[in-house]
Amino acid sequence: MRIFVARKIPFWEEVSKPLVDAGHEVVVYPNHKQIERKEIEIEIEKGYDGLLTLLTEKVDEELLVHDKKGQLKVIANYAVGFDNIDLEACKKRSIAVTNTPCNEVNESVAGLAWPLMLALSRRLPEASEFMRNAAYRGWDPDIFVGRDMKGKTLGIVGMGRIGGMVARRAVGFEMKVVYFNRTAVAGATEGYIPKMEELLAQSDFVSLHVPLTSETRHMINGKNLSLFKRTAILVNTARGSIVDEAEVGEALRAGVIAGYGADVFENEPDPHPELLMMENVLLTPHIASATEGARKRMGELAVLNLVEGLAGRTPPNLVNSE
Ligand code: DGY
Repeated sequence: MRIFVARKIPFWEEVSKPLVDAGHEVVVYPNHKQIERKEIEIEIEKGYDGLLTLLTEKVDEELLVHDKKGQLKVIANYAVGFDNIDLEACKKRSIAVTNTPCNEVNESVAGLAWPLMLALSRRLPEASEFMRNAAYRGWDPDIFVGRDMKGKTLGIVGMGRIGGMVARRAVGFEMKVVYFNRTAVAGATEGYIPKMEELLAQSDFVSLHVPLTSETRHMINGKNLSLFKRTAILVNTARGSIVDEAEVGEALRAGVIAGYGADVFENEPDPHPELLMMENVLLTPHIASATEGARKRMGELAVLNLVEGLAGRTPPNLVNSE
C-alpha cells in the first residue's frame, strides 16, 4: 500500500523500518519544512492508503476531498494532541485516526512544565537578559528576588497522564497539589477541586494539561484570570487556544497575574505580540515533546499505527474508535 509522510521525522531511517518490512511504498515529503497546503492537496490526489501527519497539518473536509478515490484508510498523527484533525470528516470517510500517547511524551511535557514554573518563579528570563546586557555590577540583595516554591499550591487543570506526572514532581518541592478534572481520579481524591474557579483562586502556580476541544477553548479567560492570586504563575504546555492569549497579556500588564510560561500559542508560530513585550513571560517554540526519547517513541508509534491499520487490524492508538 502507499503511504505519504508529510515531513521527515526524527530517527526516520530507524523507525520507518516496519513500513518497509511490511512491503509498503513510502513517499516522504522531501523538504525540511512544513508542507504547504497546496502541496499536500496535490499529494493526496495521487492516491495514498496511509498518511503520517504532524500537528502543523490541518486535516479537514476540504483536504480530504482531494482523496478522490476514497483510498485513505489511516491517518497517523505524530502528536498526542489531534485537534488539527477533523474527526467527524474522517469518520464520514471511514478513515482511522491515531495519535502517539506514551510515557516518553508524558515525561517530556511534564519535564517542560516544571522549568517554566521554576524559571518564572526565580525570574530567570529577566535575570538572563540582565546578564546579557552586561548590567550586573556586583552582588545586590535587592535584585531579582523571586518566589519560594516550598509550601506553595500547584493547581493542575486536567489530571490525565501528563497532569499526573507534573503533580508527582511537586513532591520534591514540598508543594501542595490541587487539581481540577471532570471527575476525581481514582485513588487521588485528595486535592480534587470540582470547580475550576476555586482551584484558580487557591493556586500559586497553575499548569494546564487538557486537550483542546470546543469545551476547553479559552477555558482561561479574562473573567477567570481575575480570580487568580496576583502572585500566581500560569503555565501552558498543552495547546495555545486553551487560554485567551490577548486576555492573558492584558492580565499580565494589569498585574492580575505575575507570570506566564507558554510552549504553545493560539496562532502558531506567532505568540500574541503583547506576550513578546513582557519580561515576566517565558516562551518556548512548542518543544514540550522535544526530547530524543519522546521523538523516537512518537515515530515508532505513528509507524506502528500505520502498519496495524493498513493490515486491517485495530491500530493501538485509535482516537476515533466509533
Ligand atoms: C503533542 O504531542 O501533542 C505535542 O504538542 C507535540 O509536541
